[in-house]
Amino acid sequence: MAERARESVIIGILHGPNLNLLGTREPHLYGTATLDDITASLTRVAADLGVELRVAQSNSEGTLIDIVHEWRGLVRGVVVNAGAYAHTSLALRDAFAATSLPFVEIHLSNVYAREAERHHSMLAGAAIGTVTGLGAQGYEFALRGLVSALRQR
Ligand code: DQA
Repeated sequence: MAERARESVIIGILHGPNLNLLGTREPHLYGTATLDDITASLTRVAADLGVELRVAQSNSEGTLIDIVHEWRGLVRGVVVNAGAYAHTSLALRDAFAATSLPFVEIHLSNVYAREAERHHSMLAGAAIGTVTGLGAQGYEFALRGLVSALRQR
């Protein structure tokens, strides 16, 4: 039987507003890891899982939505930290619904232990799951959880 090349699974990692400043941004809340540090550790996890990553960050809601649209047909699922847009953006949730892209929501800080306006997520109800409050390591859990869920489908 002819060997078929194994189709590579690509996972999107999407970061929203102000996360480009990780490392120096309110380290008591968000830790000292930079976005590059997080990408480097996720790249190691991805290799362990046998998946590839696409990583993007934007401070603009519309650009985040455009990226989700562009990822349709390219990535199999998305790990998303939408920053404050998680609490406000019905449009971003609609983008995931419109593209049928499964996703895991992640927050570095425990949003439920913070101000009331951070307790609601527009995304959570449409997510496979949510990781919150576990710092930069939460991204690793989110990626492992997403890939595991996708493999069970
Ligand atoms: C955050 C939590 C949000 O409430 C906040 O607006 C952020 C970061 C987190 O990772 O803890 O920008 O998403």
